[in-house]
Amino acid sequence: MIALYAITFNALAVTPTAYGELSSDMFADSDKCSQCHAIAHDQWKGTMHYNAYEDPFYQKEVLAASNDTQGIVDEFCSRCHTPIGVVSGEIPPVGGANLSAIAREGVQCDFCHVISVSNGTGNAPFVVSPGNIKWGPFDDSKSAYHESEYLELYTTSEYCGMCHDVTHPLNGLVVDDTYTVWKEGPYAEEGVECQDCHMTSGITKFEANPGRAGSGAQKREHISTHAIVGGNAFITEILGEDKYKEMAVERLKKTATLSIDAPQIGQRGDNLSLNISITNSGAGHKIPTGVSEIRQMWLTVSVKDGSGKQVYNTGDVYDNGTVGNAKIYNTVLGDAQGQPTLSFWLAQSILEDNRIPPRGTVSEKHSFRIPEDVTYPLAIEVTLQYRSAPQDIIDHLFGKDVYEVPVISMTEISTNIYENEETAAAGAADAAKPSTPGVGSLGSVTILLCAAYFYMGRREI
Ligand code: HEC
Ligand code: HEC
Ligand code: HEC
Ligand code: HEC
Ligand code: HEC
Repeated sequence: MIALYAITFNALAVTPTAYGELSSDMFADSDKCSQCHAIAHDQWKGTMHYNAYEDPFYQKEVLAASNDTQGIVDEFCSRCHTPIGVVSGEIPPVGGANLSAIAREGVQCDFCHVISVSNGTGNAPFVVSPGNIKWGPFDDSKSAYHESEYLELYTTSEYCGMCHDVTHPLNGLVVDDTYTVWKEGPYAEEGVECQDCHMTSGITKFEANPGRAGSGAQKREHISTHAIVGGNAFITEILGEDKYKEMAVERLKKTATLSIDAPQIGQRGDNLSLNISITNSGAGHKIPTGVSEIRQMWLTVSVKDGSGKQVYNTGDVYDNGTVGNAKIYNTVLGDAQGQPTLSFWLAQSILEDNRIPPRGTVSEKHSFRIPEDVTYPLAIEVTLQYRSAPQDIIDHLFGKDVYEVPVISMTEISTNIYENEETAAAGAADAAKPSTPGVGSLGSVTILLCAAYFYMGRREI
């Protein structure tokens, strides 16, 4: 029976490169490629692909996973985070005692460009053929150093989907559905691939980048960029990869839009309801995606009266790093006892998934009572926040006060509530008034600087 199954499987598809089938010296290190592909090298070095193995968060988690499973998942985890380490059999041990320098380069040039075929998507089913042929997106590419071969795979999401779709190796639970959600969503239908948003400067759509792909090569209408960035502004920060932190923040700021449905007028003592909608306007997959049991997205809602007194407030980050009273958008995985767990290798079920699908919108209702002693107008401010991990898991893994996970504001919206029609009309006219360019913006810069100064001063106390 087993043999028959194996034959059917092989007749349908290729066999992915097995553990220890190759050796690491069959791959070229990225410095070699940078001799002629300096721009691509500069864009890739420092990204999360380059850091996929050295990532200190991954390092802590893979050791925990290895301990929890008596080493059963060692090869599984490493297959995406240090693929050369696995195909060369240098891992396990996951600590990296036998790992070559080239395998430490994580997801690197020569690995990515000797993938010659793939057995579909999910759990890294790649076949690698290291050697003189480099596969890529061009069908007319010539180089003195290596042979070039066109492979359509490189231009499609299926390429990324090899690693960006993860199911639990033992129970089949889907723990990363980035590719699958893209495939079933509107972007796949419109032919917008991962590369269009992640390998061009367009961020939310394709943008052509004319140039040369290598020294002495012909000029082309488009060459892809290798600064493949997501939302990780935390690990990039602690590794000192500031350029990629900034790019992650820029990307997060283009991901979503907010709208707010609130009455313009409210009387003292009234119960007021706000309806706040979040739309995933820029990502080809759910937000958050990837290790979405660890990522966090939520709304901070603040209502202050005319004198600056807080009337209503949710979603602040407290000093201990917890988020106050907010709905967190992410996935919640359940362990064997049905309890929430952040350790996806122990997960057996998905307890909750309230992430926002591509082009999808979700709404939150917030209600509060207008106090009797309020001064008008009431200012409502809403911010969509993102952080790469809850503070407590980072404190638990690295020690308290070692790293502070940055909270990134993705987008903001604000509005006012007035006492009556008259003040509302005056407020609306005020808001619509064209500001005198120089003076107006100088004024607001001054206010911002004062606020920053005040804030920094307070931090030092
Ligand atoms: C995660 C895998 C991955 C890594 C790492 C990677 N590439 Fe690429 N590369 C791709 C894909 C996919 C394309 C094709 C993108 C497209 O055209 O849609 C590509 C395109 C190219 C091209 C064709 C020209 C262009 O930019 O479109 C060259 C040359 C190239 N890569 C060289 C490199 C070098 C050198 C490195 C290391 C510094 C590198 N790549 C790292 C996946 C990767
Ligand atoms: C001596 C210079 C040189 C070196 C070293 C070099 N390349 Fe190239 N490579 C080129 C040139 C030139 C091209 C042609 C670019 C074009 O067609 O626009 C090219 C094209 C490519 C392509 C596109 C292939 C296709 O058909 O789409 C890939 C991928 C690539 N190189 C990867 C690599 C990798 C990975 C390394 C390091 C192992 C490397 N190259 C080292 C010069 C070099
Ligand atoms: C329409 C543009 C678009 C497309 C298509 C797209 N992405 Fe994204 N991607 C984004 C934006 C914007 C973000 C930032 C928001 C976020 O982090 O969720 C992002 C974030 C990510 C992240 C980090 C997620 C996190 O929160 O940790 C990963 C990983 C990722 N994308 C991979 C992919 C893969 C793989 C594909 C193809 C299957 C793809 N993306 C298709 C725009 C896109
Ligand atoms: C060989 C496996 C592999 C392939 C192929 C691959 N990736 Fe990745 N990618 C990873 C791993 C592993 C990480 C996470 C590294 C970490 O966070 O420690 C990652 C990280 C990322 C991130 C950063 C996520 C963040 O939170 O900031 C983005 C974006 C991304 N990949 C997009 C892509 C796209 C687009 C493609 C296809 C062109 C692709 N990847 C191909 C393995 C791969
Ligand atoms: C099929 C490929 C694949 C496998 C197998 C895999 N990962 Fe990952 N891992 C990824 C990708 C892709 C990302 C980036 C997703 C994102 O940014 O949200 C990632 C991100 C992570 C992160 C977050 C890193 C950060 O900087 O925020 C941790 C931690 C992690 N993986 C640990 C593990 C462990 C432990 C295992 C084994 C139990 C494992 N991974 C198995 C592909 C994989």
